[in-house]
Amino acid sequence: MLPRLNYLIIYLGIAITIISFYFSTVRVQCALGGLNTAESCSRQSLENSDNHVSKENLLDVQNNTLGFHEVFAISLPERTDKRDALTLQSSLSGIALTIMDGVDSSRLHVKAMPHTMDQPPKDMACWRAHMNVIQHIVNKGISSALIMEDDADWDVALKLQLVQYARGSRYLLSSSPEEMPTSPYGDGWDFFWLGHCGAWFDELDTRRFVIHHDPTVVPPENRQYAGHPDMSLWERQDTDNRTRIVYKSEGGVCAAAYAVSLRGAQKILYHMSMLPYNRSVDWGFHDMCKDRKSDFNCIATYPALFGVHQPAGNTSKWSDIGHGTDESQSQVEERPSSKNLAFSARMNIGRLLSGTTLFESQFPEATGGEMDIADIGRGIGHPEVLPKMAVVEG
Ligand SMILES: *[C@@H]1O[C@H](CO)[C@@H](O)[C@H](O)[C@H]1NC(C)=O
Ligand SMILES: *[C@@H]1O[C@H](CO)[C@@H](O)[C@H](O)[C@H]1NC(C)=O
Ligand SMILES: *[C@@H]1O[C@H](CO)[C@@H](O)[C@H](O)[C@H]1NC(C)=O
Ligand SMILES: *[C@@H]1O[C@H](CO)[C@@H](O)[C@H](O)[C@H]1NC(C)=O
Repeated sequence: MLPRLNYLIIYLGIAITIISFYFSTVRVQCALGGLNTAESCSRQSLENSDNHVSKENLLDVQNNTLGFHEVFAISLPERTDKRDALTLQSSLSGIALTIMDGVDSSRLHVKAMPHTMDQPPKDMACWRAHMNVIQHIVNKGISSALIMEDDADWDVALKLQLVQYARGSRYLLSSSPEEMPTSPYGDGWDFFWLGHCGAWFDELDTRRFVIHHDPTVVPPENRQYAGHPDMSLWERQDTDNRTRIVYKSEGGVCAAAYAVSLRGAQKILYHMSMLPYNRSVDWGFHDMCKDRKSDFNCIATYPALFGVHQPAGNTSKWSDIGHGTDESQSQVEERPSSKNLAFSARMNIGRLLSGTTLFESQFPEATGGEMDIADIGRGIGHPEVLPKMAVVEG
């Protein structure tokens, strides 16, 4: 009797080892996107998931449209350099991208401008390029979409990060644990600030979805944001300062990457094109959130999930709306960099091509020079409700 029990324990041990090895492998394959099938990802174990959310379609956020119905990137047709890079980066990240033409300011028609619109021509062209995508979404009835600008960059662990982001957005949207939401991110959202350079919190909502010990969080001293929610509860002397939060937002700035639902796109087209309007596109989105136009429901994450890539060479290559660097102030940068990202996909294209699972950090002092994808994507979040006192703008 006793020896048989021992064998049983050994067999069990071997089985558990094989199964856990299988799941850790699948997790890595999922994170690497391009190398896997949807089925292998949907079998990924959801370790440490809480019971607050239903999980049936949560892992759709790892499909090749990141759980949205489509992914768009806006790029001027002549910026073939940006299109080459973005196409390759998306392909290696397992993202199916549709490139939409940007708008040259010479093609703006004065009759087509909203009443009161009086902004610099390049800002108006940028606004129109985004509105064209929004119009397309409304026209085709696309249920949700991620929209990027052509210099957007993301972390190599994006598909793991998005699982946590979606758990957070479901918490904030009070998704019922019994019912599966239509969108894996939950239902009732209009706008996600995913690639901002500043996003503020909604003072009426003290809920936060908090992801600790997340290696993709850029060290505080290396972040470049115009504003952010108060992080003092989690960024202290005795913490590792690697916390990302998901929260209800009263707006943000920069539009390197954001997501809209169909309902959100309809509201945007109404308020930002049909009604009197005189703002750049990102401040227009900000006002939609801040003023709750048509009940606009915004969720943000800080630090952001998407950053901006700045290639080597003449800095006038960076922006097509002349923000930061116009021709007269241009200089030559010998090294590329990506703002607000630790394990930038663009900076790791060589490694993605080689098939390695070890990726290079832009902040070696904080993360070590390189890290395995399974570790990069290890952050797991949980809901918290702030004490009222802590609601102070950071
Ligand atoms: C990805 O998931 C979303 C949400 O479930 C779905 O709408 C979309 O069609 C899926 N994309 C693909 C390519 O299967
Ligand atoms: C539109 O905004 C610009 C500044 O962004 C301002 O100079 C201009 O007066 C505004 N126009 C109207 C009609 O409000
Ligand atoms: C974390 O950030 C806080 C606030 O910026 C700072 O005072 C503290 O020294 C940091 N802690 C570590 C371990 O770096
Ligand atoms: C950068 O390129 C612009 C043209 O786009 C040119 O006018 C400028 O002189 C270049 N700057 C440098 C430092 O080479």
